[in-house]
Amino acid sequence: MLQPGGELAGGRVPRHFRQLPCAVIPGPWPGRHLAGLPLTVLSRRCLEEEPFVEIVPYPHPALRWKAKPVSQIDAALRSTVREMFDLMYEARGIGLAATQVALPIRLFVVNPTADPDETEEEFVFINPEIVRRKGQVVGEEGCLSLPGLYGDVTRAEEVVIEAFDLDGQGFEMKLDDLAARVVQHETDHLDGILFTDRMRQEGTSERVDLKLPKFVSVYEQARRDGLVSSDESIKARIDEMVRSGRIPEDYADCDTYRGSFPSLSEA
Ligand code: CO
Repeated sequence: MLQPGGELAGGRVPRHFRQLPCAVIPGPWPGRHLAGLPLTVLSRRCLEEEPFVEIVPYPHPALRWKAKPVSQIDAALRSTVREMFDLMYEARGIGLAATQVALPIRLFVVNPTADPDETEEEFVFINPEIVRRKGQVVGEEGCLSLPGLYGDVTRAEEVVIEAFDLDGQGFEMKLDDLAARVVQHETDHLDGILFTDRMRQEGTSERVDLKLPKFVSVYEQARRDGLVSSDESIKARIDEMVRSGRIPEDYADCDTYRGSFPSLSEA
């Protein structure tokens, strides 16, 4: 298992991963940052470990799910959250939403320092709701589901967010600056909204739109190569979560996780 903070795109990949013949990053990738993501998935596959979660890249259909409220906080959910933090650190991110790991639940994790040693900076937001927004500010954003792609997005300058923590305790946070931006970006993920959608709304997406088709072709190839979970395996995982009561039963009949993503028409 790769350790949090391991430099996937650069030097510090454990040696046994590099020796694996299949731990070769298939290309061409649209950006150097993308290199980290499939290698994580790939390395685990090589070791025949079935990760419970993995970061799914655009245009995976999970990124369009409207997630449902978490109904139960148990040991399984806590371990999922731990895995999400680990994946986030591996990918050098500061926030990760459940839909980005193909889980249709309203939950995201944040560590604004991106440093796995800064555990006191780790925050879990369960069933989050932004209850107040103040001011507007433009700032650059990126996304672990669109590695290497960056763009300016207008967000509220200050927000008040309510959520539950892993102990089931409700809390309220008043955030500004980067933290406010992160929670708005992650809350959007839970509604199936990407930062590129916000740019499109603002009429500033021309440059990022040109890059999306490349993500689509890389994704389609990765799926053909079995490097991204199939719809069937995602469905099986969700059915298991429904059976264990971790997500509402109506997800069993929900067809949000079926079918293909209308990626090109959307861009
Ligand atoms: Co994102």
